[in-house]
Amino acid sequence: MAEETKTERNMKFALAGESQARRKYKAFKEKAQEEGLEQAAKMFKAAEMGETAHSGYFLNKLNGVKSTSENLQGAIEGEKYEAEQVYPAVIDDADEDGQADVKKYVGYVKTVEGEHAELFKGILDNLGDNEEAEYYVCGNCGHVHLSEAPEVCPVCGALKKSFKLVSL
Ligand SMILES: [Fe+2]
Ligand SMILES: [Fe+2]
Repeated sequence: MAEETKTERNMKFALAGESQARRKYKAFKEKAQEEGLEQAAKMFKAAEMGETAHSGYFLNKLNGVKSTSENLQGAIEGEKYEAEQVYPAVIDDADEDGQADVKKYVGYVKTVEGEHAELFKGILDNLGDNEEAEYYVCGNCGHVHLSEAPEVCPVCGALKKSFKLVSL
């Protein structure tokens, strides 16, 4: 495999940074709205949109977007890796650090990443011939529920009103 160029390394770094900034500005926009600071909220939104464009450029340039079947395969591997390798260690560390709330939440995250892997696999196995279904996502933990929102989230216990219907 060819060695990574400086530019590739820089673009990976930029992709991570821009993705993080995008998420942060979204939260900052919501906070400014909550505080009734509309112009600040708009500027955070403007920056969020810019960072979205920047991260999109780097992702494409790094060949991060392939065919959907390849993207699904990559997503399955990534989600499995997170569920099986990354988060169990994060849970242990949180336990050692006495961070019970983080430990609990990361437990949800680990479960949901495993669900993502399974759901992606279901899509990949029948790609082009997938049965139509609605997805409802728990706004607290990210659990994906099919067909209808449950009364209580089976992963984190959040109530039905926390669920959002996925629309494109
Ligand atoms: Fe995931
Ligand atoms: Fe949940």
